[in-house]
Amino acid sequence: MERDQNIQLPWPDWEIIKELGHGGYGAVYQAQRSVAGITEQAAIKVISFPKSQDEIEADLTDGYDLDSLKAKYADVLQGYLNEYNLMRELNGQTNIVDCADFATVPHEDGIGWDVYIRMELLTPLTTVMRQKKLTEEDVLKIGKDICRALMLCESNNIIHRDIKPENIMVSKFGDYKLGDFGIARTMDHTTNATMVGTERYMAPEVIRREKYGKEADIYSLGLVLYWMLNNRKIPFIDADSLPYADELSRAQSRRVNGEPLPPPKYGSDELRKVVLKACEYRPADRYSSAEEMYRALDAVKIENTEGVLPSQETRQDAQIDEAMSAVTLGKDEHLKKDGDKNQGKLQNQEKLKKPLMVAAVIVLIIVAKSIWSISPSFVLIAAMAAVLIIAVRKIKKRSGSDSSISNTSGSKKSSGKD
Ligand SMILES: Nc1ncnc2c1ncn2[C@@H]1O[C@H](COP(=O)(O)OP(=O)(O)O)[C@@H](O)[C@H]1O
Ligand SMILES: [Mg+2]
Repeated sequence: MERDQNIQLPWPDWEIIKELGHGGYGAVYQAQRSVAGITEQAAIKVISFPKSQDEIEADLTDGYDLDSLKAKYADVLQGYLNEYNLMRELNGQTNIVDCADFATVPHEDGIGWDVYIRMELLTPLTTVMRQKKLTEEDVLKIGKDICRALMLCESNNIIHRDIKPENIMVSKFGDYKLGDFGIARTMDHTTNATMVGTERYMAPEVIRREKYGKEADIYSLGLVLYWMLNNRKIPFIDADSLPYADELSRAQSRRVNGEPLPPPKYGSDELRKVVLKACEYRPADRYSSAEEMYRALDAVKIENTEGVLPSQETRQDAQIDEAMSAVTLGKDEHLKKDGDKNQGKLQNQEKLKKPLMVAAVIVLIIVAKSIWSISPSFVLIAAMAAVLIIAVRKIKKRSGSDSSISNTSGSKKSSGKD
């Protein structure tokens, strides 16, 4: 909280209440103001660049002089002006986060800026998912609402490029909204790919740095819906498993290399069909527009009103998420290390299980021997049998989880692309 109090907002009426989320750029805060007895709430995104004197020193060491540094940060500022401008053009639309104000404050030393974007206060989808079970109806509503947001993007020639659960929020009226236009850009038919966005939901052509168009957003939305219907697991990961980092990495390459995705575990056949079409490998095989995808979702009849996702984020979920970020391509090495650490934790738990079971069996045998005075060779045979049983069980478990991945992919092949 110390950090929050240090922030001087450019709007004197507004005060920061708490931090809502943060990333490499800065943070988003909940803020409020009370005027004439009326209290209003807002979310304020605060971005500061450069973040520290160290960053300036590093740039100077890399060959920048003061003028080129100022030019560099003027460029960064232009990027944020673009973000605000894009959001402003879409202001007032039900399914896009509303922006209320924007301010820039130059740093005292003339190098860099603080940027403030004031937005309507919403609840992130990730928070909602931790609080309640999503139903198929919820997933459909999220899909349709974000399709509406993408329809507006399309008519304004914008590719969002970072459709993911963290950038979807919900209003108090239950409308889902697309936010974070930080890396959105205007499309000139197809855009020469720079790899931005979140690889976990990224279309293969973007990851491959090929040309891409609005179909890349349709793919990412499809993948977000897939993930929700697959117990928050990516394609090629069994919905009920706790995958290792290398399994996640293999699953990711299977997706990027164009292997047909198995259907997600939950959802009606109709809904799963729509999701799989949105996530087709070839852009030409996907919905050709957000409106077409909207119509397909709108035609889905809801069969299952029960929750399709667990409401509580378990410790295992958090581990998967971390391991997942570790395997996303092009991420920093330290993320990989974190992922390895995580996997290490999971493996250590596995490793501990075996000696504990062996110890338990040995204790049992010793107790049995002292009660019924059994011969030492019988004790030896019993101990070897116990170790054998544990080894067989372990091998079975391993091959079971491998085949669950290939089985799911097989099920897609057998069902075909109907
Ligand atoms: N209008 C908002 N209301 C509530 N929370 C928000 C709002 N905007 C952003 N957030 C929270 O802050 C996080 C980061 O904001 P975002 O605009 O996505 O920035 P970034 O560029 O770091 O992804 C979001 O994932 C969300 O949890
Ligand atoms: Mg974001």
